[in-house]
Order: sequence, then structure tokens, then C-alpha cells
Amino acid sequence: MAQFALPKNSKIHTGQLVDASEGAKDSKVFKVYRYDPDTQDNPRWDKYKIDLSQCGPMVLDAIIYIKDKIDSTLTFRRSCREGICGSCSMNVDGTNTLACLKAIEDVKGEVQISPLPHMPVVKDLVPDVNHVYTQYASLEPWLKTSSPEPEKEHLQSADEAQVLNGSDGHGPAMCILCFCCSTSCPSYWWNSDKFLGPAVLLQAYRWIADTRDDATGERLDDLEDPFKLYRCHTIMNCTNTCPKGLNPAQAIAEIKKQMVARQG
Ligand code: SF4
Ligand code: SF4
Ligand code: FES
Repeated sequence: MAQFALPKNSKIHTGQLVDASEGAKDSKVFKVYRYDPDTQDNPRWDKYKIDLSQCGPMVLDAIIYIKDKIDSTLTFRRSCREGICGSCSMNVDGTNTLACLKAIEDVKGEVQISPLPHMPVVKDLVPDVNHVYTQYASLEPWLKTSSPEPEKEHLQSADEAQVLNGSDGHGPAMCILCFCCSTSCPSYWWNSDKFLGPAVLLQAYRWIADTRDDATGERLDDLEDPFKLYRCHTIMNCTNTCPKGLNPAQAIAEIKKQMVARQG
């Protein structure tokens, strides 16, 4: 008989509440997922009440403040703090996003912060991205050419480049591999062992659409598989979630169109 209860050690317990606001008028509670693999303890929700006048306006600013001033054991990834590197992706207030682009004032009440869903957790807010990066590497994401080397660089026309950059600056080459989309995709939740998921498929399209690349046929052959591509059922969570405003669902549709076009 199927069991629908969560395994005991995955239940999230209530953790500590640290009031570091010192009675400030403009304060906010951040409810943060904590998990330490070095203990046998279940994950827990810790709460930190902080004075908003002491930190910057973004959720990442609050997380950095908590680590610097209240609890140095809190673990998370970040680098650029301006939506470029993709490292601070996490779930804030129920939505996958970049903590550095998410304004604290946009969240009503407590700010709940947890790691990207449906990925193993390394510690606290850090997901294990080995699997998605292995999938990404399987694309061989570099320019493959069979034509003679040009004297200088491989050139594209402005129109050809626009397919990659997007006429609105939101084309597939703008993807920062934050994986907010893949971890919001129900098909990826259930089939991530075989389905490549929207982030990796957007990258696949980025190379298929690159007019300087001579391996389009080979790249399409590699996706001709019941799982890698066709587990996408156009649910659109990916596009709705992307914090950079990209459209992985459309990129997937373009790959499917190219698959059909070459059969006819
Ligand atoms: S459109 Fe496809 S890839 Fe995007 S969320 Fe839906 S099933 Fe996943
Ligand atoms: S498509 Fe958007 S959400 Fe997905 S990995 Fe790229 S930047 Fe992140
Ligand atoms: S810290 Fe680089 S995207 Fe947020």
C-alpha cells in the first residue's frame, strides 16, 4: 500500500526565534529553512526579527545581515548581488526567485525563505546542483564548427544575434542558469533523472539557434528521446517563474518545431 506520509527525518521542526530588532518600529521577521547535515537533527524553521533600517532593501541584504550580525552559521550562495551570477536563487514567499532581486517590501508579513524545491539540500539554503550541471554539460555547451576557421572571430548578422539576445534583451543567451525555472516545473520534479528541464533545454535551444554553430542536426538528434525533451507538457511554470523574464517554454516549443520541420 502506498504511503503518503513524509519520512520522519524530512519533517521541518520549529526552531529558534531571535529578536534582534531592539524594538525598532520598522522590523520584519524572516523565517528561514535550516538544515545541518553534520547533525542527526531534522530541518527546522528559524525566525529572525530584524530592524529593517539596518539592512538594504532586498531579501539577500537581510540574509547577509542575519549571517553577519546574528547567526554566522547560516549558509547560502551569493556572489554578484545584482541578478547576474544566478547563485542566490531560492524560494522566497512561495516563489523561486533571486534573493538579490526580490524586494523585502514586496512580501507581506513574514518573509519565508527556503532552498530551491525538489533538489537535495547540501546545507540550509544551498541546493545540490551537481545533477543539473551534469545535464547542462551533456549538451556540450560550446560552439562546434566544421567550417574552416575564420581569420578573426565567427561573425553573425544583427538579426541572427537578435535570436540569441532577444529583441527585448530577454533571449536565451541571457539565461544565468539560476534553475528557478527547472525547480518550478512539475515535469522536472517527477522526471529529473531523464527530463532535461526548462533551464537546460533553453540552453540547448541557445546552441541550436546559433547560426555560427554547425552541429544543429547532432544537437537535435540528441534530444530526440521520449524523456529529455518531450516530458515538457507546456505547463508554463518555468516562464512564469523566471526572475530574468526569459521564456524557456517558448524555447522548448521552438526545439519541438525544429524537430517536426526536419521530419517533413
Ligand atoms: S512549460 Fe514545460 S518545462 Fe516549462 S514548466 Fe511546463 S512542463 Fe516544465
Ligand atoms: S531561464 Fe530564467 S529561471 Fe531558468 S535558469 Fe535561465 S535565468 Fe534562471
Ligand atoms: S547574487 Fe548573483 S544573482 Fe543574486
